[in-house]
Amino acid sequence: MKIKLAPSILAADFSRLGEHVTEAEQGGSDRIHIDVMDGHFVPNISMGMPIIKSLRRVTGLILETHLMITDPNLFLSDFADAGSDTIIVHWEGNNNLHRTVHAVKLLNKRVGVAINPATPAMVLEEILPDLDQVLIMTVDPGFGHQHFLSSTLNKIQQVRGLIERVNPECELEVDGGIDASTAPMCVHAGANVLVAGTAIFGNDLGVVKAMEHLKEAAASTG
Ligand code: DX5
Ligand code: ZN
Repeated sequence: MKIKLAPSILAADFSRLGEHVTEAEQGGSDRIHIDVMDGHFVPNISMGMPIIKSLRRVTGLILETHLMITDPNLFLSDFADAGSDTIIVHWEGNNNLHRTVHAVKLLNKRVGVAINPATPAMVLEEILPDLDQVLIMTVDPGFGHQHFLSSTLNKIQQVRGLIERVNPECELEVDGGIDASTAPMCVHAGANVLVAGTAIFGNDLGVVKAMEHLKEAAASTG
């Protein structure tokens, strides 16, 4: 299985954001992961539409927007207009997930659903046929540079099984604490897209070398 990286700009130096994204492009990434936090859904505030708009002007990469906000339905068209190619919404706190997912599809955007560490795999079963990707949080959402929760590995395996059964085209992405030591475990469990912030943008090796290092590590699994 081809493993893809999704560099998360949460760990980038925002005064050099354009350069960082260009470096990620040089490192062979097909996408950039953008974490949107509202201070309600998660106890942190990050970035919103203006950043996506600015990045849209400097890169052709897929802009993947991970919405950690209380009422994503209110903002879907704003994020689409700003230039998001993929919109990821959380299962948690959404009583009308099917409606949200189809609202993203109506905007002609790729759609993903994220689940938190305490949320079981099986909640995805009914919605999975409609998804382009699933995002399994391997930390509690809200902050970068947290410790990977190995209790999520079993769930990654379960979701891989579900995907193979009902929607083999669906990507299985993991997010949080992904580095050269945890990436191989996630790939072994069935992930094919690895979100990484600190391991890419916070790495002394520089973005391109850090990505190489992470890809090599990810490939070192059976
Ligand atoms: C956490 C975010 C992640 C974060 C990952 O809520 O969803 O995308 O940027 O950061 P690292 O790779 O540093 O754990
Ligand atoms: Zn994220």
